[in-house]
Amino acid sequence: MNRNIIYFDNAATSWPKPEATIRAVDSCLRETGGSPGRSGHSLSIDAGRVIFNAREALAGLLGMDDPLRIVLTKNATEALNIAVFGLLKSGDHVITSSMEHNSVMRPLRAMEASGVELTVLPCSTAGEIDPGVIVPAIKKNTKAIFLTHASNVTGTIIPVTDIGRIAREHGLVFCVDAAQTAGVLPIDIGAMDIDLLAFTGHKSLFGPQGTGGLYIRKDLEQVISPLMRGGTGSRSEYEDQPDFMPDKFESGTPNTAGYTGLAAGINFILSQGLDIISAHEKRLTELFLQGIGTVDGVTTYGLKDASRRISVVSFNIRGMDPAKAALELDERFGIMSRPGLHCAPSAHKTIGTFPEGTVRFSFSYFNTVEEINQAVDAVRSLANQK
Ligand code: ALA
Repeated sequence: MNRNIIYFDNAATSWPKPEATIRAVDSCLRETGGSPGRSGHSLSIDAGRVIFNAREALAGLLGMDDPLRIVLTKNATEALNIAVFGLLKSGDHVITSSMEHNSVMRPLRAMEASGVELTVLPCSTAGEIDPGVIVPAIKKNTKAIFLTHASNVTGTIIPVTDIGRIAREHGLVFCVDAAQTAGVLPIDIGAMDIDLLAFTGHKSLFGPQGTGGLYIRKDLEQVISPLMRGGTGSRSEYEDQPDFMPDKFESGTPNTAGYTGLAAGINFILSQGLDIISAHEKRLTELFLQGIGTVDGVTTYGLKDASRRISVVSFNIRGMDPAKAALELDERFGIMSRPGLHCAPSAHKTIGTFPEGTVRFSFSYFNTVEEINQAVDAVRSLANQK
């Protein structure tokens, strides 16, 4: 690449990755050549160890005691599909919010067509959900609450601990979509009363694409059906799927190189400190919001308070289609953003930006103050050109 790139699309996938992630994938492909948990030879055992290391790194970061409670998946979408299709049955009622990504909304809508009752709780135009609206929505047949930890459109953080407590008090399964928060916000499964946590590896966890997972609370696996069945390397004498964690939900040869990279990404986070990463991203978000707040003709969405949001900022320039703005930001200023609906049409309806959507900047630990300043100047220049 021979031009300067300012990469502000970390909510879609983080880039660049830490050197450690790249080296781990390289070394796995060169040296750890076996199929994990399958053949029993040295390289297969090495590959199995690599997978277990990834589970341990995830368990450490996400406050889980037992690494075997994590099902490794190819992304958060697969994890959420296991949760929705595996848990819900016709006649169940489920509660979600109007800020969800289609990775939650589409599986839930499909279940609605199969006899599941769905309540979509309205959020404020800044993407907030009031925990007070949850209890009145609970019915006799309510089985679960599915909520995003933070919106991929506005960055708004939901009060997960308060809602987890409500779910626990009412005996409901609480499923959190941490696609945008794992690796940047502290997550404590126990303290937050989370029963199911879906996450992706390729965003703030700094792993490669094709990695993710689902935490399943102890014993809940007994009532969740797998999405796929097949070879697990365990109980090979039986033609029935194993019923224990994580094999019940992990069929087929996994993405060993990807999970090695994911473990390296998590170890990078731990070496830097989650609080340091989080503080840096918050500072960038604050600076951008302050800078862009002075530009006439620019509207930003979500909360003004950067401590109540992650480093995702949606905005629009008056009179300019978001797709055109993003194209100009790329072509003239080398700024990579994501325009449109961000696979979250309901969230855009909530904040009043449907169907055109917004331009979205999403910052990472690797972005700098200088890049934020350049981006504010670039947006100002687009806003002034009309
Ligand atoms: N869900 C990802 C995003 O928001 C892909 O861009």
